[in-house]
Amino acid sequence: MKRTLFLLLCGMLSMLAVAQEVASPDGNVRLKFYLDGTRPTYELAYKGREVIRPSHLGLELAKDKHASKGIQETDLMDGFSISDTKTSAFDETWKPVWGETAKIRNRYNELAVTLGQQSTGRSIIIRFRVYDDGMGFRYEFPQQSDLNYFLIKEERSEFAMAGDHTAWWLPGDYDTQEQETQQSRLSEIRGRFEKAVNWGNSSVAVFSPTGVQTSLQMKSDDGLYINIHEAACADYATMHLELVDGQTTQLTTKLKGNSNTYTPDPTPSTYPLPAPMTFVSHLTPDATGLKGCMQTPCNTPWRTVIVSDDARDMLSSNLILNLNEPCALDDTSWIHPTKYCGVWWEMIVGKSNWHYTDDYPSVQLDNIDYTKTKPHGRHAANTEKVKRYIDFAADNGLDQVLVEGWNIGWEDWANMWKRDVFDFVTPYPDFDIKGLNEYAHSKGVKLMMHHETSSSTQNYERHIENAFDLMNRYGYDAVKTGYVGDIIPRGDHHYSQSMNNHYLYVVKEAAKHHIMVNAHEATRPTGLCRTYPNLVGNESARGTEYEAFGGSRPDHTCILPFTRLQGGPMDYTPGVLETQLKNWSENPNFVHTTLAGQLALYVTMYSPLQMAADLPENYAKYMDAFRFIRDVACDWDDTKYLEAEPADYITVARKAKGTDNWFIGGKCDENGHKSIVHLDFLDEGRKYECTIYADAKNAHYEHNPKAYVITKKTVKKGDVLKLTEAPGGGFAVSLMAK
Ligand code: NOJ
Ligand code: CA
Repeated sequence: MKRTLFLLLCGMLSMLAVAQEVASPDGNVRLKFYLDGTRPTYELAYKGREVIRPSHLGLELAKDKHASKGIQETDLMDGFSISDTKTSAFDETWKPVWGETAKIRNRYNELAVTLGQQSTGRSIIIRFRVYDDGMGFRYEFPQQSDLNYFLIKEERSEFAMAGDHTAWWLPGDYDTQEQETQQSRLSEIRGRFEKAVNWGNSSVAVFSPTGVQTSLQMKSDDGLYINIHEAACADYATMHLELVDGQTTQLTTKLKGNSNTYTPDPTPSTYPLPAPMTFVSHLTPDATGLKGCMQTPCNTPWRTVIVSDDARDMLSSNLILNLNEPCALDDTSWIHPTKYCGVWWEMIVGKSNWHYTDDYPSVQLDNIDYTKTKPHGRHAANTEKVKRYIDFAADNGLDQVLVEGWNIGWEDWANMWKRDVFDFVTPYPDFDIKGLNEYAHSKGVKLMMHHETSSSTQNYERHIENAFDLMNRYGYDAVKTGYVGDIIPRGDHHYSQSMNNHYLYVVKEAAKHHIMVNAHEATRPTGLCRTYPNLVGNESARGTEYEAFGGSRPDHTCILPFTRLQGGPMDYTPGVLETQLKNWSENPNFVHTTLAGQLALYVTMYSPLQMAADLPENYAKYMDAFRFIRDVACDWDDTKYLEAEPADYITVARKAKGTDNWFIGGKCDENGHKSIVHLDFLDEGRKYECTIYADAKNAHYEHNPKAYVITKKTVKKGDVLKLTEAPGGGFAVSLMAK
């Protein structure tokens, strides 16, 4: 007994002897690093409260004959000693090409620990950056003779929670994020998992009943907001988190989904499970089941923890952008925030189609002459209709018109394992690509390109040069891409290392052609838009389209800014003012917000790319409310989050770029909300023309969604606006400097 106590004491003393601490510039966030025996370990605290309890760091490597010239791999999990530590401070202010603010301060204190593994002679660096609003760390692998090529079986970064927090989570899935967010205690995830999966999505692969996606937002019982995500995920697989909840004996990887792309179960880890309520990183595998193919020198993405006792700090945090590399493009003058409408919503709702003919059970692009086929008459992307959309955009200050279904191949395109599905250059016979672009340009509008890849990624890469050349020829400068269905080559997943490389390849190739990219179904963003600002949007969550498929809960858009938007903007496609679809189509569904709530989204869901999603004929019925969509900016000099609580409400004020005009948006959940907005942020001595678009007294997202009131008055700094949001509602305010 005495001997055990002695050894324990020695252990604790040696541990303390090597503990390294680094605090944030304001001293509120404190990071501690040490070796637990020989395992790298860290802890995080905020204002003296535990955020991350002692958590191990490391990677398990695959024992593969191809790795490191046939050498049997030794994991990078333990057997380490500290060979060097370096601390430094950094403080710089940079200007994003587009964003929520004109300037962003990047200020942190850094600790870089070099670890040597005696048994292999290998060394790695774990680098921590500690900010006033959280922390990021990553693994770095310097080039060295004994660590050259290696394969990752699993990354084992732990995040031990200090309690059974409330979490807003999505089921961890290798292929989709288009689920409704669940709100529950961590201990309740397992019991709710199965029902939380969106089994109807076109590609689903879940791996563990306690696997969740990032960005994961949590709240502790004593009011700490904690968010875990990642930054700068490039040449690496997307990370999920698996919760050790005390009910499991090993980390699971039992794949379940609706696809044929099952990867083999890797052999379970032999390392001991961490304590209950610990998240362990879980990477997306490739088609072989492996998680990463690495060549040194290289590094992992940053693993991020944002923390505050004020929910508004979660939304104003720039930690993820700051952990990304500066802009890699020399010339960014061609990148511009864009407001657009599109030949889109009517197809999603089911009134018209992407495809042209019903003549064939399937098509092969080379063997079909569309001019000789019989059109079914519901093809939306026809010259006459597109002209109407162009006219609407030109009359209403919208920059671009997206046209989907313009190119041949839509007759059969998803989940057929069809390789040569689209060529991205041949229009259907009723789409005059040259004439329409000329018409649009004559009216000061551009068409927006659409490239649905049907997840046939090699096909897209084969055609991409021609496809971008075509865009340059006709004057397109933005493309919406899409990855519906299981990934081809078969067995790969949307969020694997190879797919993440594909998405970035597309963005880089697009930049060479001065093309902006908005990628749907691609991996969730991790701030790479700082480095490649032509990545102006992503979907990577449940967008407005789901309102036509059955709906999303009213609190959905009061959660997304805390979760999905942490890594970058979302092409959420708001602005459906005719919220009851049955009024103009056979679709029985309705949009789960009030009309005023739709307007609010242009301010609360930050994006440099904003769609006016509804049809011109629907907007014609609500032109007074549409005025806000015309007026609202999509690029900002300043942003103030005024009120926020995940899944309840968000109120934000933004100053339009290069002007003195402000716009305010407030969005709430199904319970309604009362906002008191102090106009303290306005310029001293200046008057503003204030237009308020609010829910009427009896408005309700379900039974009275289109009851709104528009009021105008003159306001000045210090005035107060009292606004009532209906259940599922919101408000929008424009403040035009006089
Ligand atoms: C899914 C996208 O999210 C949607 O916007 C698009 O219209 C369809 N795929 C077709 O590409
Ligand atoms: Ca709520």
